Amino acid sequence: MKIGILINRVTWEVKQLITEFEKRKINYNLINNQKLFFRLNKEKEFEGRYDVILERSLSYLRGLYTTAILETKGYNIVNNYNCLNITGNKLLTTLKLIEKNIPTPKTCVSFKPEPAIGAIKEEIKYPAILKPIIGSWGRLIAKLDDYTSAMGNLECREVMGNVLQKIYYIQEYLGHQDSNMPTDLRVFVIGKECIAAMGRFKPEDDFRSNIAIGGTAKKIDINKDIAKISLSASNAVNGEIVGVDLMRKQNELKVIEINGTPQFRAIATSTKMNIAGKIVDFLENTYG
Ligand SMILES: Nc1ncnc2c1ncn2[C@@H]1O[C@H](COP(=O)(O)OP(=O)(O)O)[C@@H](O)[C@H]1O
Ligand SMILES: [Mg+2]
Repeated sequence: MKIGILINRVTWEVKQLITEFEKRKINYNLINNQKLFFRLNKEKEFEGRYDVILERSLSYLRGLYTTAILETKGYNIVNNYNCLNITGNKLLTTLKLIEKNIPTPKTCVSFKPEPAIGAIKEEIKYPAILKPIIGSWGRLIAKLDDYTSAMGNLECREVMGNVLQKIYYIQEYLGHQDSNMPTDLRVFVIGKECIAAMGRFKPEDDFRSNIAIGGTAKKIDINKDIAKISLSASNAVNGEIVGVDLMRKQNELKVIEINGTPQFRAIATSTKMNIAGKIVDFLENTYG
């Protein structure tokens, strides 16, 4: 079997995968999209064949477009282009979740600050959460506590933002004050199985629990409700390897995000699970 790993940097996750390939004597190759050019008119891109290419690009758009190019040429990519396109975009993800009747927070979208303020006043109410539709690691996600903080954030984006940051994706706030309860949950789904889950706790002064900005993780048990909603979310986007982020409203679970290129250092460490091994098992069983 030959596996490609599509990267733009050798991350901790990529090193773990390489260790697993070497342990199992699997033929693999790193495809670094920073060092290549692609011949769009040529039928095959690479010499020899790949049974599957695992998309692990840290840069979302480069990974997405490389996937589009290689998939068009007939390569199997995990996750596929359509899955990456939807999961990398919170607006498209929300639409898909609503289409599939999967619980997700109340969300409004507006293309100008004034109607965005109207959406908060009439629909979402304060505090509200403002997110860039493409982004990760909690970056540029803001909590809008009142009109002043809302207008401040919206105006900054309107004047200084790029075109994507001027799409105002506004969501109901689902935070809570109980420091014993996780801020949100991350469930790692491979194929049709939820293989690991962690609760993430926000740092004291922030409302976001991303590990990249100081959130901490603790293993949690995967009960029936968590498994059901996570698998539905993964199915909705035809995901093969995804990370599903969940929050609770009162006691009901809601999907806030599906990650199509999920990092797994924190979940591997907190659950003591060999996630890279599970990923390679899946690739061998599905594409080997
Ligand atoms: N609706 C919300 N209410 C309260 N906190 C939220 C909400 N949505 C996201 N958060 C917090 O912000 C973090 C990042 O949000 P998420 O939608 O997962 O975007 P990212 O792609 O940046 O991880 C979450 O892990 C959670 O802690
Ligand atoms: Mg997230």
